[in-house]
Amino acid sequence: MDSPTFPLISRREALIAGAAAAAAASASAPAAAAPNAPPVAASDAAVPRMKTALTVNGQAHSLDLDTRTTLLDALREHLNLTGTKKGCDHGQCGACTVIADGRRINACLTLAVMHDGAQITTIEGLGTPQNMHPMQSAFVKHDGYQCGYCTPGQICSAVGVLDEIKRGVPSHVSGDLTARPMLSADELRERMSGNICRCGAYSNIVDAITEVAGGRS
Ligand code: FES
Ligand code: FES
Repeated sequence: MDSPTFPLISRREALIAGAAAAAAASASAPAAAAPNAPPVAASDAAVPRMKTALTVNGQAHSLDLDTRTTLLDALREHLNLTGTKKGCDHGQCGACTVIADGRRINACLTLAVMHDGAQITTIEGLGTPQNMHPMQSAFVKHDGYQCGYCTPGQICSAVGVLDEIKRGVPSHVSGDLTARPMLSADELRERMSGNICRCGAYSNIVDAITEVAGGRS
């Protein structure tokens, strides 16, 4: 009896044939989403935008903003005012402190469109290297910084603190809420507690603020 005959192909020929068949199958099959593909981003056209007028450091700007833009990003990314720093972006470090209509605020926690028509002061608007604000000069004199990353926020906050004390705004450590706040180290530390300094320049910062306030450091 004759034994059955099989075509003899090499292992290499078998691999090539298998790969060709797989390629043909994938070309004819409908495309399937990759298992880890990122979600499709919403179309930019669907994002509401709003014209926003901001006067920053005395200069008027009209911005066409995605309504989700924070004031911090509007300053840094749209107006190129990078003196205001992004530390945590969550309202926990104070690096983004600016002065809006006379009040210090965390620019990362507020939307730019909420400040339509507002007057904003950033560190660039307080002073220049040639003509520094007294608080900037005091920080230099008292070594109120090391790496300097928190410093713009510290200085804007410090200017706001002295204005709050002048207006009689009490703090958490004010003993008498109806009396004029004291310019004590405890008051300054409490009022500046929202501004974190990783370098630990706190004592020198208090000295600088005290000097600008007219007290003895
Ligand atoms: S960046 Fe705004 S509080 Fe930290
Ligand atoms: S000076 Fe470095 S974080 Fe404050």
